[in-house]
Amino acid sequence: MRRPLIAGNWKMHFTVPEGLEYALQLRRDLEPYSALVDVVIMPPAVMLWEIANALRGCAIEVGAQNAGWEDQGPFTGEISPKMLAGWCHYLLIGHSERRQLFNETDEELNRKLHAGLRHRLKVILAVGETLEEYDAGRTAEVITRQLNAALYGVELRQATDLSIAYEPVWAIGTGKAATPDYANETMGLIRGLLQSPFGALASQIRILYGGSVTPANARSLLEQPEIDGGLVGGASLKPGEFTRIVQATAEVLQSPRV
Ligand code: 13P
Repeated sequence: MRRPLIAGNWKMHFTVPEGLEYALQLRRDLEPYSALVDVVIMPPAVMLWEIANALRGCAIEVGAQNAGWEDQGPFTGEISPKMLAGWCHYLLIGHSERRQLFNETDEELNRKLHAGLRHRLKVILAVGETLEEYDAGRTAEVITRQLNAALYGVELRQATDLSIAYEPVWAIGTGKAATPDYANETMGLIRGLLQSPFGALASQIRILYGGSVTPANARSLLEQPEIDGGLVGGASLKPGEFTRIVQATAEVLQSPRV
């Protein structure tokens, strides 16, 4: 069975002292659920090291929201997977904000994915269609292109270090989450696509849903068979809400799935 994973993407929020204080609060609050649910928080890069140290010895892991693909060199403003290796656990790539606001291409994301995996980071690859693509009925086509391009050349043995986050762009930060059925159906499509590179291992890859996850809808989303967790934005910034989402995940696990 796939262990659920709740990831908090803090995006560009908090000062370093605020982030550190919040991480320490999560360390206390999430302790009761650590046996059931994997939790990763993704603070801004400037506070990642400090927070990783503050969380040492507890079950919460840390992730970077982005990284380049080179190990080192004249790339002003960039951080590399090599710098994260050994102490940072996860790397998020392909978030729609990176694709849209920073013009990241499928080809670049493929290079980032390979660099992350080469340095043994657990890579979460985000995919998802825009509102325009959704309205035009192009979801399957877009997801297929994004997945195939990003995963090009990934080896079978690397499948266990990979998760996918399905984040419909129209659901991000809008308060309008996808319906559980729609999310489940698209995530089923994603799992099907994973079979071509990974065969039977596709069934072990976690697929997370992201886009307006809240304590109120977490349960109905997580009850779906293809939804293995959540990538949470806005609600991950509020300690009470994030904890309640983790709690709801633990509760779903303890009750039969639909
Ligand atoms: P919201 O939860 O704020 O919709 O953001 C989702 C997201 O982008 C997580 O990566």
